[in-house]
Amino acid sequence: MKILDGRATSEKIRKELSEAVQERKKNGKKIPHLAAVLVGNDGGSMTYVGAKVKACDQIGFESTLIRYDESVPEEILLAKIHALNEDKSIDGFIVQLPLPQHIDEMKITQAIDPKKDVDGFHPVNLGNMILNLPGFLPATPAGIVELLKRNNIETEGKNCVIIGRSNIVGTPLSLLLARNSNPGNCTVTLAHSKTKNLKELCLSADILVAALGKPEFVTADMVKEGAVVIDVGTTRVEDATRARGWRLKGDVKFDEVAEKCSYITPVPGGVGPMTIASLMINTLKAMELKGK
Ligand code: GUN
Repeated sequence: MKILDGRATSEKIRKELSEAVQERKKNGKKIPHLAAVLVGNDGGSMTYVGAKVKACDQIGFESTLIRYDESVPEEILLAKIHALNEDKSIDGFIVQLPLPQHIDEMKITQAIDPKKDVDGFHPVNLGNMILNLPGFLPATPAGIVELLKRNNIETEGKNCVIIGRSNIVGTPLSLLLARNSNPGNCTVTLAHSKTKNLKELCLSADILVAALGKPEFVTADMVKEGAVVIDVGTTRVEDATRARGWRLKGDVKFDEVAEKCSYITPVPGGVGPMTIASLMINTLKAMELKGK
């Protein structure tokens, strides 16, 4: 078994982006500027947004963090999005999800200018993705595809089972892996909570992606010998041995599955850093698309 090291792969991407920034500076061109909107104090969201801002600093991008209280009215958030759409100094921005119950996430997503939607969540970008037209790919699926590509994992003709049909991960990833491209050309099955015979289905997978958000859901008896296993789960579980009182757990029972598969992504250090790297790639692209 080999570890699919998202941290090391993302580090390479960050270095390439950093070199691109240096080149732009040398030529007197604008530096990419990412803004992130964070609502409330959810621990996971704070960690993710913090990591995104840190990645900008490392690469040499400009970044702006905009924070709101949990109780912020939807109109205030919408007004901020309109202002960010108009702000010429901002090349791309994200609104960290999930949002509090009283805010309509779809309304917020649709208010973002597709040209600045570096998360690739806007219907226009998702439509462009389906038709293979230029646009922004959602960061996590794009990060997984990039991880497979940069680690020379063969995908053509492989059976891929994805567990979880979210708009952010499972559904777009199923489309990217089925594309006539490399990576791509997989025969994809998108499994979900109503899927029958999930274990048998998973056992047919050459590439198995767990993106359902249930810690250690995928056990060794569900995995084919030699499969490639991608773990998208990042659930915080209590851990009294850690100073902070918790640790991240993936959707795959790592120790037992690792013994059976050919490649596996760890949690943390697998898909997470690749998601951030993809967001950075999209931010540079947002600026380049404007011809700046
Ligand atoms: N919540 C979980 N993943 C993501 C992501 O990639 N982008 C945003 N904006 N929110 C998320």
